[in-house]
Parts: sequence; C-alpha cells; structure tokens
Amino acid sequence: MSKPLVLKRDKLYLLFLRGKFSLFLILFFSNVFSQSNISPDSIRPKMQWFSDAKLGIFIHWGIYSVKGIDESWSFYNKKISWPDYMSQLKGFTASKYDPEAWASLIKESGARYAVMTTKHHDGVALWDTKEKHYDVVDNTPAKRDLLSPFYAALRRKGLKAGAYFSLIDWSHPDYPGFMKDSTRYSIADDPARWRRFQSFYQAQLNEVGKLLDPDLWWFDGDWEHTAEEWEAPKVRRMLLDRNPNAIINGRLQGYGDYETPEQNFPVTRPRYNWWELCMTINNNWGYQQSDTNWKTPYEIITIFADAVSNGGNLLLDIGPRQDGTIPGQQVHVLKELGAWNKKHDEAIFGSEAGIPQGHFYGPTTLSKDSMSLYLFLPGKVSGEIMVKGLVNTIQSITVVGEETSLKHKVVGKISWSPVPGLVYITVPPEVQDKYMTVIKLRLDKPVSLYRGKGGFD
Ligand code: GLC
Repeated sequence: MSKPLVLKRDKLYLLFLRGKFSLFLILFFSNVFSQSNISPDSIRPKMQWFSDAKLGIFIHWGIYSVKGIDESWSFYNKKISWPDYMSQLKGFTASKYDPEAWASLIKESGARYAVMTTKHHDGVALWDTKEKHYDVVDNTPAKRDLLSPFYAALRRKGLKAGAYFSLIDWSHPDYPGFMKDSTRYSIADDPARWRRFQSFYQAQLNEVGKLLDPDLWWFDGDWEHTAEEWEAPKVRRMLLDRNPNAIINGRLQGYGDYETPEQNFPVTRPRYNWWELCMTINNNWGYQQSDTNWKTPYEIITIFADAVSNGGNLLLDIGPRQDGTIPGQQVHVLKELGAWNKKHDEAIFGSEAGIPQGHFYGPTTLSKDSMSLYLFLPGKVSGEIMVKGLVNTIQSITVVGEETSLKHKVVGKISWSPVPGLVYITVPPEVQDKYMTVIKLRLDKPVSLYRGKGGFD
C-alpha cells in the first residue's frame, strides 16, 4: 500500500470524526482499503466460530473515562493538552471493577465474544507492561493488571476473548505521530528511531500474547503507516506462530482476516467473506457523561438483524466508567438484546446470511441447511407480508419463540410461467414481539429463488 493512500485514509478518518464525508468517499475508500493479502480458503476453518458468533461486545476502557473525553483523539485533536490528558492517570481507579460481572453481562447479551482495549492510541497499557511506557499498574491508582481476570472470566463462560491493540502510540517518544499538526520526526530522517519503536510495539504484542493468548487480535490505527513500516507480514506470522487459530481483524494493512466497517452501516451486501460492523451504543467509544444519545434496544436489534442478514457480525461497544461500573443505559440495551436473542436464537445463531435483498422488505436469514427461511419484521408489522420469487413450496410457517402457526396464500402463479407466485403471509396483531417479530418458513427443499425480471429476461 503506497504512502499517499495511507495519508488519505488518515485524512478521511479525521473527516469522519467531524462527520463530514461524502458517500462517494466512503464507497471509494472502502474498495481501496479492502484489499487483503490473505486467501480466504487458507483461513476458512479458523473463521468458523467467528461466522457463527454474530455478536461481540467491544469494550473501550481507559484513562479517558476519568474526564469523559474522546479516547486519545482529544489530545491529538488539541481539545485538551497532552499533559492534561495524561493527568487522568491519577483518577483511574477501577475501584468497583468486577470482571466476573462484566463477563456475565456479556454472556447475557447473547454475544459469543468480547474485544477489550488492551492499549488505545494514548499508549496506556491495561496490563503490567515490562516495556518502559505507561501502564495502569505503575501509573494509576488501579495498580493491577485489569485484563487477565476479565479474560479468565470470559473463558470460564465459554466466550471467545479478543484483544484490541492500537498500533498507533501517540505518547511514545519513538513514535513519529503526536498531534494533528505536529510529528516528532520522520522515519526517513531517523530509521533507527523507528526500528526502536517497532521492537517496542512488537515486544508489547508478545506480552499480550503470552498473558492473554487472544482468540482474536483487533488492531487499530494501521492507517498511519504502511504494511512494510509496521512489518505487518512478520507480525502476522509472529501471532500465528503462537496461536495458529488466532483471528486478526482487517486493520493490519492487508494482513488481516476480516473487514471492519466502523459506525457506517453497509446498505448493499458487502462482498467480503467475513465482516464485522463495530458500533457504539451512544456516539462515543469510551465513557462520556455528556453523551446521552443512546440508541434504543429496538434500534440495536434492527441494526444487528440487518448485519446478520447481510452475512456480518455486530461488535457493539460499551464504555465503562473509570471505576469499572457500566452505565445503566448500556446494561439495559445488553439485557434487552439478550432477552430478544434468547427467544430468537435459532434465527440468529444457527443461521447464515439470508436471501438477497428485494425478495422481502426486511432482514432475512437461512438455516445452515437452507431448509428454513427466517423473516425479520421491523416495526409492529401486522397484516399481510409478502415474499417474492420463492420457488419452494412452504411446509409450515411459525412465529419464532412462540407456538403460533401462520397462514399463507400464493398469489398470481401462472401455470405456464416459471415465475413463482407471490407469497402472502397473514401476521395477526397479537403475535407481535416487543421489538422484532421473526417468522420461520419451513421449506420443502433447500431454498430456491427466482431472480429474473418477470419473464422478460
Ligand atoms: C477508531 C478510533 C478509535 C476507536 C476505534 C474503534 O479507529 O481511532 O478511537 O477505538 O475506531 O473501532
């Protein structure tokens, strides 16, 4: 990947932060940056748990929760000075941190994995790093490794454990980038200094690997340097030598396993083999008291269903307070999502991406044998819903999580035409789920669709 593109993405990202970029840029850059050097067939077996997982919980926890300001970006963007930002070290207590309770809440949400920040762009490690740099053990009143007990708790509950690791380290004296309008040095002028940083960050990765043996590595910030500068192929090899089944997200300059669209929902189905939409519950990754723009459980559930329908996962972020408590609104969303997931388990967790858009006005999923088609009804839909282009004969229609059977009729089937009729299903008003009703169509054989233009194609 050439340097100018990298710089463009950096710029693009800043525009994103200010919420100003155009659709054209999104489409253009998402294509440019989805180039991967990893062949899908070589990683398919290890990706299976990830495709089945559907839901992960992202946790952004760091010193930025003390003042409740943008994680790392607040000093980079000069909203606060770097010393002021770092003074938050003194206020990060983790005094009420209960990793067991965090893992239970995550389990209750229905998520199959969690990804926690081990170190954000501010460089503060949440474990006891042996490298000469900031960590919560030596530099904050928390005074302990915050990661190990949480990873152990996740594993006791059968959840996969992912480690977010920022490649960028704006606080490290050997890292070139510092603030939006200033850098410490350029690699070309001082390659030895950059080599020091490479060894430093790779040593930290080794520490995290040894301590947590993550099932998934969630890199961030690759856009500031090229694959060559990060030594991405070497880093990938190093991580896979330790654990050949570890999954690496797509932010390692082309050396990751899956794509990570961020906050922006894909409208058409992404062509990636594996992808994961990461999204905040309010507007920010980390805890910010003033940010009350909460997404509702209904919104989260519909976003989640849409991601799964399009073959993706949702990595839903929570931002605990500095003391380790999780804001009530986030707990509420996770619990409501969990109750809905429990009821609709088979339509989500046993499923694969649904039928292409256009056959039904809403998300869909398919059972792995393609014998069951699940229709997700956004809003309080009742009356007749319609499915187009379904060649199969329907054997039964039931409401997922309830006993109710529904009636249907096939309309407009012309005897001499190969085009299937329209299926109308009657949804009575009393079957409504609190958030999103799901209907299961049991088919006579694996799903078969008519994709033509009505006989004139
Ligand atoms: C970004 C940001 C960061 C956040 C991350 C989560 O790339 O730099 O602050 O942690 O996205 O996806």
